[in-house]
Amino acid sequence: MSRNRERIVKIMEDCFSQGEKIPAEGMLFSYRGILYPATISSPETLEAMKTFEARDDDVILAGYPKTGTNWLDQIVRELESADVKCTEEEMKERINAEKKLETFPRLEFGDPGIYERMKKLPSRRIIQTHLPPHLLPLSIFQSKAKILLLVRNPKDTAVSFYHFYNNMPVLPSFTSWDEYFTAFMNGKVAWGSYFDHLMEWNKYTDHERIMIMTYEELKEDQILGMKRIAAFFGFSLLEEDFHRIAKNTSFQAMKEKSKETHGKMGDILFRKGVVGNWKDVFSKAQNEEMDRKFQECLGGTKLGAMMKYEVYCKA
Ligand code: A3P
Repeated sequence: MSRNRERIVKIMEDCFSQGEKIPAEGMLFSYRGILYPATISSPETLEAMKTFEARDDDVILAGYPKTGTNWLDQIVRELESADVKCTEEEMKERINAEKKLETFPRLEFGDPGIYERMKKLPSRRIIQTHLPPHLLPLSIFQSKAKILLLVRNPKDTAVSFYHFYNNMPVLPSFTSWDEYFTAFMNGKVAWGSYFDHLMEWNKYTDHERIMIMTYEELKEDQILGMKRIAAFFGFSLLEEDFHRIAKNTSFQAMKEKSKETHGKMGDILFRKGVVGNWKDVFSKAQNEEMDRKFQECLGGTKLGAMMKYEVYCKA
């Protein structure tokens, strides 16, 4: 398993045990009008994030929660490890530094001191975030760091987030899907509105250092998707590497290894891994409401077109 999984498992285990002690009303905090989980971040951390210093060779992986960000992270880490330019020594050095510096799996996670510690991480840093561009530290856009944005259709994202919310002890549960649906549509969930997130990213579709990929295209042809990612970041791999990595990062393979890679969260995270699960959950009225909202927010936009809503979100 590449990189520092033990540390991630430990963070998850700590979160689970803290979550059991926190009352539901204390599980989220609001910062600039957006909710975040209190067990893994704080207003002080989000303030301190402004001091984060991006590097030209940083790899930034962005995506709203539940769009497949853990999958993408694993894919990119494996592609990077297989890059002929990365030596085993460098890889070992990075794993040790991540352990020693107690880094976190998301840019917005951890204690306020994390951004100082991140300065000591050797390159190349792979940094994940659920934040939209206007909330990211300015240094990311001032540097030459490349950003890979992952998007997923809103209906499957909503269903995935619902199950996550109701199974993660660090998030408050909803009493019903209907209650949750209203909260999701109004952006009253962790990391705020799915639609605002995408409308902000839509402003960057022509940015030369940003590439957008959909969960659905990665599901449809993972090898092709991985080749696009490798070309974007300048990773050089052999044809057989792509096939090996596709096998290692299939839903089944990642689910089987999830205890080792994600601890207790594994069973919650690797749920179904399919396109179209929303069809079992959405009512007719909810479908219509989502269709209207998507049209209102992303209809006629470049990002909206990339997402192929008509293909993935129509019954
Ligand atoms: P479902 O809940 O629909 O199954 P994130 O990592 O951003 O939290 O996203 C989680 C979603 O990605 C879950 O969706 C999960 O099953 C899916 N996922 C995780 N690993 C995957 C893989 N290897 N292939 C396809 N989907 C995967």
